[in-house]
Order: sequence, then structure tokens, then C-alpha cells
Amino acid sequence: MLKINDTDAVRFLDGAPDYEAADAALATLLKGDGAGNDFLGWVRLPFDYDKEEYSRIKLCAERIRKDADALIVIGIGGSYLGARAVVEFLCSPRHNEDPKGSPRIYFTGNGIDGADIAQILRLVEGKSVYLNVISKSGTTLEPAVAFRVFKDYVERTYGKEEARKRIVCTTDARRGALKSLADKEGYECFVVPDNVGGRYSVLTAVGLLPIAAAGIDIDALMKGAADMADICSKPGKDNPAVVYAATRQALYRKLGKKTEILSCPSESWRFVSEWWKQLYGESEGKQGLGIFPASCVYTADLHSMGQYIQDGERTLMETFLTCAEPAEDITVPDSAENADGLNYLTGRSLKSIYACAKEGVKQAHVSGKVPCMEIEIARPDAENLGGLLYFFEAACGISGYMEGVNPFDQPGVEEYKRNMFKLLGRP
Ligand code: PA5
Repeated sequence: MLKINDTDAVRFLDGAPDYEAADAALATLLKGDGAGNDFLGWVRLPFDYDKEEYSRIKLCAERIRKDADALIVIGIGGSYLGARAVVEFLCSPRHNEDPKGSPRIYFTGNGIDGADIAQILRLVEGKSVYLNVISKSGTTLEPAVAFRVFKDYVERTYGKEEARKRIVCTTDARRGALKSLADKEGYECFVVPDNVGGRYSVLTAVGLLPIAAAGIDIDALMKGAADMADICSKPGKDNPAVVYAATRQALYRKLGKKTEILSCPSESWRFVSEWWKQLYGESEGKQGLGIFPASCVYTADLHSMGQYIQDGERTLMETFLTCAEPAEDITVPDSAENADGLNYLTGRSLKSIYACAKEGVKQAHVSGKVPCMEIEIARPDAENLGGLLYFFEAACGISGYMEGVNPFDQPGVEEYKRNMFKLLGRP
């Protein structure tokens, strides 16, 4: 279960955050009569999903797990970050080096980097390769270029007939270049629902197929999300999404805290932060408004960003993400010489040492006038992560409505594309 503590944020405010306004924003979200209401499919997604497709996702993932040494997942933004967040959080960022971690999963098509693609081609040489290309529009340049390269690779390696079985598309149900190509070639297809935007799509086939192919229990992920959807449908302070949205909006509006740092305890969380950054940045950053989402991994980033957070411009708020139980733990060994002077820690678990480090950091940042919240999940498992993802989505919808913007569009993303395509000479 998820716990939120906003005491060390609220103490900076003159009065309580506006929970009533958060409740009103939640009501708008649930009634579906606010801005962007044609993109609210994610709200009921943990209950109202296509069960036939869900079974096909599991079958396809099983086939990939049985036949593939490597799954290449091609996508960008909302068609990429959720799957990577879940896979790296639950299987570790080093999953490809783990002999238990079959198949290897390579995420690509999320930039324009020939070296990255060339390296993946070398790494999968001689291996059994499957592709999952994910693009709602089917026209996004970065994944389209990567797909062209890897499609060519599997067709040359296995022949066109066998390549057909190894290429799986996740795209629009009816429209777009990828859908047309998939229909022409006879690739298996999964759907990005019309009413779910990219950054809210992790619990659709966009996220679920690569996640299931990594061996993660998607039933547990969906159950965690469904349980959290129930909790997040109720008004009041027992709803953690109401608390989080109301507090961060109060810090932004009343105290000018324009940047929120999501601070995570290890590298496994890095892509949870990246997913969260897209979710909040694209949802709230518009019309000259919005809290800038930033992230740190502790304690590593204390040795690079700690100075600024403690002492730089006072426009920061911070949200600590933690997990009550780590996936694994070790204790500090004894040393007869004690040359490093660390024997006072002998027998201590790294979990207990991190807890002291985190508390020390929080106290320091609060004394440096950085309002801090804490969000804790019980365990690093699929069910708890499903709950956390849904919680962030619900809070983002509420927070966006409180800010007065449409949290479900992203008009600003088109600007760079127009310039880039002009410079590339697209006809
Ligand atoms: O949230 C979004 O809409 C974007 O991040 C998209 O997911 C991203 O641009 C990829 O788009 P597409 O799936 O159409 O290739």
C-alpha cells in the first residue's frame, strides 16, 4: 500500500493546502466533463480494458520469452518510458547481464543516435531476435527510423516469412503508417486506445507487452492499479492523489516553488522518475505555467546536486520516493583491522544505513527551506508499482485541473518537429 506524508511541506504554508479544490478537480476528472475529456480512457483502464487483447498480450509475451534471446523495443516518449520504468524497477537496470533475465530487452528508437543502434545490432548478432515497435501515430521520426533499420535486419537474417512472426506492432487500431504497414505485412498488432494519451498508456499494450515479455506479472501490476484506482476515486485526505496534488499546487502557487525534485533511492528507480517527468512535464507545462519536474537518485546525486538543493535558488520542492522493504539487502562485514574506521557499522543493513542517510538529507533540505513530501510503497513488486503508477496518473490529472490547464494535450511538442522536418526537407 502507498503512504504519503506532506507534513514537512505543509509546515511552510500559511494554512492548509486547498484539499477542497483538489476534490473538485477529482470530481471533474471522474465526471469526465473537463478539458481534454476525450483522453480519459486511463481513468477506468485497470477495470475496463480489452480482455481478449490482454490474453493475446500474455500469449505473445510467452512466445517471445520462449523463442527470443533478445527483444528490441522501439518507441519514444509515452510509447517507451512506462515499459522501461517497470522493467528496470522490477528486473534492475542490469537485467540484460543477469542469466535469469531472459530474454534480453533493448529499448531503442528513443533518440537519434547511430552509435546506439549500431551497438544493439552488434549485441544481438547470432541471437534470436524479436521486435516490438510501438508508435500510436506510426509517424514519429525516431522510432520509425530505428524500425526501418531493425526490420531490415530481421528480414535479412530470417527471411521475410519468418520476420513476419518476429515483428509485433503496437499502434492505432485503424490509422497511421505503421498500422498500414502492419496490415500489409501481416504483423501481429496491439492497440493504443484512442482515448489514452501516450504518457498515460503504460497499462495498455504499450507497456504491458514488453513488461510481460520481461517475465513480470502483469496481473499483479493491473491489480495494484485497480486497487489504487478505487482509493483515488474518493474525495478527501484519505486519497493520496488529492493530498499530493493539493500540496504541490499550494507550494507552487503560494510559495513560488517552481521545480519539484523527485528523489529516488537507487538506479532501479531512474526510469520511474523519467516516466514521472514526462507525465507531469507534458501535462502541466503549458500556457506559461507548470512545476518543472526534475529528479535525483540518492545518495549518488547528493555528491553533484546536493549543494544546489541545499543552498541554491529557493524555488525547489522535493518529493522523496521510498520503499519500505528493499528487493534484497546486505550487511556491512566486520574488519579486524578497521582501517576504514567503519566497524561502528558492522552488521548494519544497507537498508538501515540508507534510512539514516535519507532522514539526514530530508532534515537538511527542510532546514534549507525546501518543502519535502514522502511517498512510500511497501515492496518493490508489480502490485505496489502498479499502484504507484496509477497514483501518479490520478494526481497529475487532479493537479493539472487545479492549475487550470488541459492536462491531456501536448501542443508544444509539435514545434520542434515542424522545424526538424523542414530542415530535413520532408516533402
Ligand atoms: O505522450 C505523448 O503523446 C508523446 O510522448 C508520444 O507518446 C511520443 O511522442 C510518441 O508518439 P507515437 O506513439 O505517436 O510515436
